[in-house]
Amino acid sequence: METATVHTNWNAHLYDDKHSFVFKYGEDLVDVLKPEAGERILDLGCGTGYLTSIIAASGATVVGIDNSLEMITKAKEQYPALEFKVQSATEFYFDEHFDAIFSNAVLHWVTKKEMAIDCMYRNLKRSGRLVLEFGGKLNVDKIVTALKNSLIMHGFAENAAIPLWYFPSLSEYTGLLEKRGFSVTYGAHFNRETKLNDIDNGVKDWVKMFGSAFFKGIDDAVVSEILEEVQQALVTTNYRNGEWYADYKRLRVIAIK
Ligand code: BEZ
Repeated sequence: METATVHTNWNAHLYDDKHSFVFKYGEDLVDVLKPEAGERILDLGCGTGYLTSIIAASGATVVGIDNSLEMITKAKEQYPALEFKVQSATEFYFDEHFDAIFSNAVLHWVTKKEMAIDCMYRNLKRSGRLVLEFGGKLNVDKIVTALKNSLIMHGFAENAAIPLWYFPSLSEYTGLLEKRGFSVTYGAHFNRETKLNDIDNGVKDWVKMFGSAFFKGIDDAVVSEILEEVQQALVTTNYRNGEWYADYKRLRVIAIK
């Protein structure tokens, strides 16, 4: 999983155990990719390799890249027959170009988005396709707003201003792709409210797993208070029938070089 500006240390085991919904939803995106035997496909931000393995089951040759050594180590352990490499979404390079580049739930971590788009363009064959899904405009906005409010109330306005994620509108992102030379053939921005795995600590776990960079330099005891406040602030909007939900908004794009 890629992050261009602020580094997040990923716990690959926690990611697989409690946040498996991230890649389970991605199976749907593999159907959109329609991988075929003989194709060469890049899984950009492959995490622990689950979707890479689904793509490989089609008979395509797949390479998974991620900038987290921990994720790649686990991916190699789980799928020893597949090729995985530690590489950054903004600087990756392969001698042999790809028929398709696939990326699920990753590009919202890449704030240097023009560099990533350029890299994708350069590593695709002519007529190759991009199949991308990631957080779009107002993604997890309720969680982010509650977290930033709580950080500011505790005197951590600088932490609240950390530019951790990039959630563009559909027109902004397709505009960037077109500027680099892609033809966008499909684009959608849609709600995907997502049930979180832990019924007691759903929001707290989510913020701990994905938003830990916001807590840089803050004492553990204060972090616990903030997490409690954030979850409490979301009871009316993100909790019902005994379950916690994240207000995900996805951007899905297909584009051709
Ligand atoms: C997402 O999949 O939308 C997401 C995951 C982690 C942090 C931010 C967004």
